[in-house]
Amino acid sequence: MFKFIHLTDTHVIGGDDLLFGANPRRRLELAVESIATEHADAAFVVITGDLTHWGDQTAYNAFYDRINGLPMPYYLMMGNHDDMGVMNQAFNKMEFDEYGYLQQKLETPVGPFILTDTKAPKGHHGEYCEKRLDWLNKTLSSLKLPGLLFMHHPPFDVGIASLDRIRNRDGEKLLPVLERHRDKIRHMLFGHVHRVISGNWHGFSFSFMRGLNHQCRLDLDGDDRIIRGDLTEPAYGVVLVDDQQIISHVHNFTNTSPKFDLHDLVGGDSRAHALNMRHDDWQDID
Ligand SMILES: [Fe+2]
Repeated sequence: MFKFIHLTDTHVIGGDDLLFGANPRRRLELAVESIATEHADAAFVVITGDLTHWGDQTAYNAFYDRINGLPMPYYLMMGNHDDMGVMNQAFNKMEFDEYGYLQQKLETPVGPFILTDTKAPKGHHGEYCEKRLDWLNKTLSSLKLPGLLFMHHPPFDVGIASLDRIRNRDGEKLLPVLERHRDKIRHMLFGHVHRVISGNWHGFSFSFMRGLNHQCRLDLDGDDRIIRGDLTEPAYGVVLVDDQQIISHVHNFTNTSPKFDLHDLVGGDSRAHALNMRHDDWQDID
């Protein structure tokens, strides 16, 4: 199957500082190392926004230095924390649409991948203006094969009030365009929420991926003013696609828990093997 990597919300900052107590530069290095060694056969990496936390040049330089360790091409998208002007100085291969937004269509052996820019001019919420809608409408109209659609901000609520406050607020304008081209969209992939979520919105299947630095908690009863975070381990998505299916795996690439074989499917299930297994230096949940 065709394989690509979905990486998102790397939130890199410059210098030697930590961000919320974690090191986003080191985490990106480890992600790049992991992709290079475990998934070198992936065709490319799509990074669905929030490359940096404050959108400054030192952060983009730090991001650039690390992401270039990838052995395969990568494609960048804008998040609410990104600054297109500053980002454009660090990267020389960004492709803009006719209106100057960082939106592009990639041709792949399994159909087109549409990468969009949902950043609002101000604030952390998302928007999708008439110009971007026009580009998307024309792009979807031109497709011969159905493909995958990538966005930083989801155009719908996920049930966490603080994140719903900063979703793409033009979802109502976006939906009719997507519905008009329903047969061209097989799946949607998002960043922004720093959680693994999957589901279906008006018949469109979707998946979200965890971030690389900090994560958002399952805060279903919280108010909309504070985003509650934690340091759940980072992950990236390993996505397998052919003309029949799309499979999105979550890879917790820094996971150091004990690894073992459950049982030999051909040789038979050994009760003793399961009961006698012990892991040095590892403690079960109390
Ligand atoms: Fe983010």
